[in-house]
Amino acid sequence: MLREVLRRHGQVSGSSVLDVGSGTGALGIEAFRAGAASLTAIDLSRRSVLASWLNSRLRGIPATVRRGDLFAPVAPHRFDLVLANPPYMPATGLLPPRYRMGRCWDAGPDGRLLLDRICAGVSSVLNEDGVLLLVQSELADSQATLDRLGEAGMVPEVLARAHVPFGPVLRARAPMLRARGLLAPDQTEEELVVIEARHA
Ligand SMILES: C[S@@+](CC[C@H](N)C(=O)[O-])C[C@H]1O[C@@H](n2cnc3c(N)ncnc32)[C@H](O)[C@@H]1O
Repeated sequence: MLREVLRRHGQVSGSSVLDVGSGTGALGIEAFRAGAASLTAIDLSRRSVLASWLNSRLRGIPATVRRGDLFAPVAPHRFDLVLANPPYMPATGLLPPRYRMGRCWDAGPDGRLLLDRICAGVSSVLNEDGVLLLVQSELADSQATLDRLGEAGMVPEVLARAHVPFGPVLRARAPMLRARGLLAPDQTEEELVVIEARHA
């Protein structure tokens, strides 16, 4: 969904891009294909850093890839475009998992551990006319993301919404989420939202 938005977004061409929580590097690679001038990718996971680096090099993209926590590895640099598909799945643990796949999606009891930090910190890595594009599930309260971005001096807007069938992670965790009232008893789809934000 975020890749679709990227393809038709007016501010990708010629931009400096930061892909935070880059995983395989797919979002940054899409931005580069859409005309981005430079690409920096960050991930906390060593495997993801390696995957982002390899996937960019295999496509001839001279990405800078850093390992670290959110924006820390690039401070005080600023970018024209920040891309984020962070972990946003409500989980049982209070803290983010330290290892393995759980780190890709688990984000504390309400799914907002990473989202709230991105909302609070993104203005410090965006150029004056810079744009954040972020995707998340409604399960992690997209209104809270809009509110937090506003509190951080950003002007947020929902660019796209889509209902998608539960993936394997959500299917496995559905009983726990139903018990907590985060899913309706008969719900089989989640709503995904792409949010754009700029400096006020
Ligand atoms: C849902 S995956 C998204 C991967 C990729 N951007 C995509 O869209 O396919 C979230 C990624 O965020 C990374 N991540 C989790 N916590 C992080 C943190 N504190 N700082 C940077 N990356 C983090 C995970 O390792 C994982 O690669």
